[in-house]
Amino acid sequence: MKGTPLTEATYEYIVTHFAAGERSLLERMSVRATAAGMPMINISEDQAKFIAFFLKAIKAKQALDVGTLFGYSAAIMARAMGTDSEVVSLEFNEKHANVARENIETLHLRNINLKIGPAIETMKLLRRESFDFILIDADKPNYLKYLNEALRLIRPGGVIAGDNAMAFGKLTDKISKSDPDFANITAIRGFNETFSNHKSLFGTLIPVGDGMVMGVVG
Ligand SMILES: C[S@@+](CC[C@H](N)C(=O)[O-])C[C@H]1O[C@@H](n2cnc3c(N)ncnc32)[C@H](O)[C@@H]1O
Repeated sequence: MKGTPLTEATYEYIVTHFAAGERSLLERMSVRATAAGMPMINISEDQAKFIAFFLKAIKAKQALDVGTLFGYSAAIMARAMGTDSEVVSLEFNEKHANVARENIETLHLRNINLKIGPAIETMKLLRRESFDFILIDADKPNYLKYLNEALRLIRPGGVIAGDNAMAFGKLTDKISKSDPDFANITAIRGFNETFSNHKSLFGTLIPVGDGMVMGVVG
């Protein structure tokens, strides 16, 4: 294998040394989510720090978060970009949106604009070329549709990212139709293929969390 595998001990080292703030934010926001019985399918703590780092590096001021859950990725982006910025976060599940709203209010993050409804419909209503960064992290079978809309919404030189690019660890496995993740894994493989070959994207796959593709548009 090329590179160093990420063991539990290395992950703990990274989080302890470089993502302690992201861990404590997640612990805080998880309380309501756990009480509401929500799935903990948020981005990982080291991934959160990487996204925050990246947004600061490109001085992003407008981000789109496709898939809110309990608001963790939105909060990470809102904190990294600062009060003179906006995160538009999309969620269709009322329960998830309510928990996210309560979390966002508790954290006084006034720069998060939560929009409820099917993400693709909301994306169609947004202004073209208005985002510096777009994170796609909702239902996997719609990833290609989100990518098409994201390409309209991102500014020239902005960055589109897609989470779960390593397909829950099954990216290169032989999978059968009886696998409960079959549809999601197939969708992710198709998305990665399109992303890596897209003529408007200078892309890469960062092996952080469950893998995240990132592409500069232009
Ligand atoms: C993986 S979670 C998002 C995690 C979040 N990005 C984070 O890291 O904190 C996916 C979310 O997308 C929402 N979702 C799924 N399909 C959707 C759709 N068609 N439109 C809007 N939201 C959707 C789910 O309800 C869920 O809350």
